[in-house]
Amino acid sequence: MPYYPTPAHSGTHAIRGHIVTLTGDPFFRSDALVEHTDGLIVVEGGVVTAVGPYADLAHTLADDAHVDHYPDGIITSGFIDTHVHYVQTGIIAAFGAQLIDWLNTYTFVAEQRFADKTHAAAVASVFFDQLLANGTTTALTFCAVYPESVDAFFEEASRRNMRMAGGKVLMDRNAPDHLLDTAQTGYDDSKALIEKWHSVGRNHYAVTPRFAPTSTQGQLDAAATLLAEHPTTLMHTHVSENLGEIAWVRSLFPEADGYLDVYDRAGLLRPGAVLAHGVHLTSHERLRVHETGSAISHCPTSNLFLGSGLFHVHQAKNHTHPVKVGLGTDIGAGTSFSLLSTMNEAYKVAQLTQYPLDAVKMLYLATLAGAEALGLEDRLGSIEVGKEADFVVLDTKATPLLEYRSAQVTSLEEQLFVLAVMGDDRVIETTYIAGDVAYSRDGH
Ligand code: GUN
Ligand code: ZN
Repeated sequence: MPYYPTPAHSGTHAIRGHIVTLTGDPFFRSDALVEHTDGLIVVEGGVVTAVGPYADLAHTLADDAHVDHYPDGIITSGFIDTHVHYVQTGIIAAFGAQLIDWLNTYTFVAEQRFADKTHAAAVASVFFDQLLANGTTTALTFCAVYPESVDAFFEEASRRNMRMAGGKVLMDRNAPDHLLDTAQTGYDDSKALIEKWHSVGRNHYAVTPRFAPTSTQGQLDAAATLLAEHPTTLMHTHVSENLGEIAWVRSLFPEADGYLDVYDRAGLLRPGAVLAHGVHLTSHERLRVHETGSAISHCPTSNLFLGSGLFHVHQAKNHTHPVKVGLGTDIGAGTSFSLLSTMNEAYKVAQLTQYPLDAVKMLYLATLAGAEALGLEDRLGSIEVGKEADFVVLDTKATPLLEYRSAQVTSLEEQLFVLAVMGDDRVIETTYIAGDVAYSRDGH
């Protein structure tokens, strides 16, 4: 039975093992990977105060300092899921539909239940258990249209002391009446939620227009007003996921020069804006994502599950106008909470676009790149002095086959690739939140 302790907010604490972290972008630098084969991380007050070889740091520890030692584990920065819907936890693996039919048949039905706070709180608890069991320490999350669903989300995040981002969905057309707000009520409810939750503890509010088809121009303008009034909030939406969706947006916004331009004209693109999917963006649109400092959440399990298309990661990470890209599970169109499984599918999608996406780049996408997409790279995404102590310990021997395969590897890159391709929640040995054990697979 896994163990989910209440965070103890301990004082000095140390973690020893094979430390692997990205301190830069390996798409553009060859020195981005940092490794200490027998390393030590010292944590005080939830923040890393020292990291380096155990032999160099051991003498700095007090005699009675507590050290968690993982001789077979790889310790890396906690995974960051840049696009997920907690309110869709109950509809993962819904059969037989592509995006718009999937939304109408499954999603809009499931989300109506989140007007009920008790239901929302129960699902939030399952959702956070899943994040921790998969080594995910931060996520940018869609809630439902109801403020109660946002309260349930941030209450659970606060209870677990996790750095989380989320927001109330804005949608004032093209969905069942019960799911709709208006430009005014969406604005008012979002503003009240920002005042209640944004920057409280480790919480971040994201202004969350669902996607262009479910918002009027008036609602997109209201979202831009919210962002202008609260400049440190995030912006979270979907873009260019599915060809039918793109044609629909063109008919709804004939004056715009394509899908992304709907958001651009409204003033929604900026650093801290996270656009899920972007599978079918044109080169001109990619340039605008770059110019505005916005980010794309690449969600390969979802794109394959809904038959949406293949995201070209190497085009996004081009050298002249690179776009920020993080990984997203996009539960419930996505099929796994695991960022390792998401890496596996990202690798296969890249293969189909003739690009061999290596494991160091995949680990970057799942950690530091996610922090950069959310504008939180000063606090999250790598194991460095001054950053928050959210870590995951990966067990290279988690299954008999993994143990057998790991015994054959001859480099760290190969070991990371094996973990990405063969790994899932079974590999997650321990998840640390702010230096405390928040999940232990083996119940320690
Ligand atoms: N586009 C608009 N809403 C959604 C959603 O809930 N999931 C996905 N994958 N795409 C969307
Ligand atoms: Zn989504």
